Amino acid sequence: GFRYIPFNDVAALEAAVTDKTAAVLLEPIQGEGGVYPASEEFLRAAHAICRDQGALLICDEVQCGLGRTGRLLAQEHYGVTADITCLGKALGGGFPVGAVLATEEVAQAFAPGDHASTFGGNPLAAAAALETLRTLEEEGLIANAARMGVYFREALEKLGAENSLVAGVRGLGLMLGLVLKIPAKRVVALCQERGLLVNAVKEDTLRFLPPLTVGTAEIDRAVAILRAALTAAGGKEN
Ligand SMILES: Cc1ncc(COP(=O)(O)O)c(C=O)c1O
Repeated sequence: GFRYIPFNDVAALEAAVTDKTAAVLLEPIQGEGGVYPASEEFLRAAHAICRDQGALLICDEVQCGLGRTGRLLAQEHYGVTADITCLGKALGGGFPVGAVLATEEVAQAFAPGDHASTFGGNPLAAAAALETLRTLEEEGLIANAARMGVYFREALEKLGAENSLVAGVRGLGLMLGLVLKIPAKRVVALCQERGLLVNAVKEDTLRFLPPLTVGTAEIDRAVAILRAALTAAGGKEN
């Protein structure tokens, strides 16, 4: 079975992993959990603890992978290579497909058909995934995500410095969270009325996952709507 430990708690991880542990599974940046990046210390410790105990490190990059954070894989920011990496969502550019990446060593344990699903490996999904990967690379979308991630984060931080309802900004690249001092769902609704779709991943956190093609004009527009929504929710400009 699984044992859960608090995220970014190296001591808890050390205590939980033994030579009987098969694997440690984590998201380098938690998405649905509230846009929490792993600390560099935690991800590196996870890698070292797994190596020392003979466990595999599995990174779920279904949400944070494929250019979202400004690198092909989020784990690259940490200088860590997981034994197994899970991909999905963006991989097919909208077409349903997932993939499991493994190091050469771990891949030796699989033979064709061992890790199967009825439609797994079908040619249409494989073609969609290849085309998506080609587009990410050839259209410079990962570099765009890195640049726009910095631009968007700075704009959110500026908004936060100006507005009394903002508690902080979290995230990496184009995977950003805005922490509020009021229920995030109220602001989701106010944004929606003004033409901006965002969602609340926690009671107090809005999550932004814009397309990797986003540009500065769209970010400016989104931040202007957000500012108006916060004002409508009673926020005061400092
Ligand atoms: C990090 C992460 N892993 C896995 C999944 C599950 O993906 P799917 O719905 O494609 O099975 C999700 C879906 O939100 C996710 O965010």
